Amino acid sequence: MTAPVLEIHLSASAAADALHHDARVGLVADPKWLPPKWFYDARGSELFEQITTLPEYYPTRTERELLRRTVRTIAARAAVGTLVELGSGSAEKTRVLLDALTATGSLRRFVPLDVSESVVRATMAAVAREYLELTVHGVVGDFTQHLEVLPADQDGRRLVAFLGGTIGNLLPEERAGFFTALRAALEPGELLLLGAGLVTDPAVMVPAYDDATGVTAEFNRNVLRVLNRELGADFEVDAFDHVAVWDATHEWIEMRLRARRAMTVRLPAVGMTVHYAEGEEMRTEVSGKFRREGLGTELTTAGFTDQVWWTDPDDRFALVLAAAAW
Ligand code: SAH
Ligand code: AVI
Repeated sequence: MTAPVLEIHLSASAAADALHHDARVGLVADPKWLPPKWFYDARGSELFEQITTLPEYYPTRTERELLRRTVRTIAARAAVGTLVELGSGSAEKTRVLLDALTATGSLRRFVPLDVSESVVRATMAAVAREYLELTVHGVVGDFTQHLEVLPADQDGRRLVAFLGGTIGNLLPEERAGFFTALRAALEPGELLLLGAGLVTDPAVMVPAYDDATGVTAEFNRNVLRVLNRELGADFEVDAFDHVAVWDATHEWIEMRLRARRAMTVRLPAVGMTVHYAEGEEMRTEVSGKFRREGLGTELTTAGFTDQVWWTDPDDRFALVLAAAAW
């Protein structure tokens, strides 16, 4: 093992500029909205970890089971020298992949990339401790902006894992740009392993985003705590209700925060004052659910070929292995 490396492509000041920009755009829009990446400060990342253990939140355990079932086939597809994980979070499920790819003897390096520096540092430290044979190369970055800086593999292929259904948190036009940029960042034959939620019964999907114990509600409100801390805003966090609805037109779960009463919020760092009417809803996340044909076509259009699909017995989640086309 060589010493872990940490590359920071999203400095604290660049992240602050991006948050300022998003607040200036999203909080004057009608309806108001914020991008979901701002959930994930240290507290938001911890709340997400709690979500993954909730009985209602089926995606994590379903994907973990799919990974266990398919990992040998994935490892047999190509000698992978570097495993990159986009939006790695704690990389908890990724251990299934790391175990199989280190067992084949080909894997030498793990590259967790996440927008949250605290998460990247913690994940690097844990993986370096558990897998002494691996070099861990963490990247603090935004996967919608920094794919071209992913470290290359000198003598093997890279497998890029994008798990958890995080692809669904991008809006359709962002998703198309993401797939195209990812294809451009890869060498022909390098691999993508994509985890994506599938369209299923709203009676299953909605509770996953509106759990009985209110952890998801706290996760949702956390974005207001981030704005209060980072922009000096004075959101009264508990005056906003958590809302999760299935949008059958767009085929996504939409999370919103609904103002319980009329409020005026000051955001001194961006020189803004924002008004909320009683009952006004602000979008904080979309979580797109997919159909095989549509997502398969998007991947093909972006230049990913040789797709292999696996789904769970209830057809709630899919893993797709695809190669960058020659
Ligand atoms: N892959 C993990 C974690 C999913 S949570 C799993 O499957 O359980 C989504 C993760 O993506 C968080 O750790 C969050 O910090 C990160 N993230 C969200 N938007 C991002 C972006 N634009 N660029 C990089 N990381 C992002
Ligand atoms: C990270 N992402 C895939 C989660 C999801 O399911 O869309 C984030 C999340 N939002 C609410 N609960 C979990």
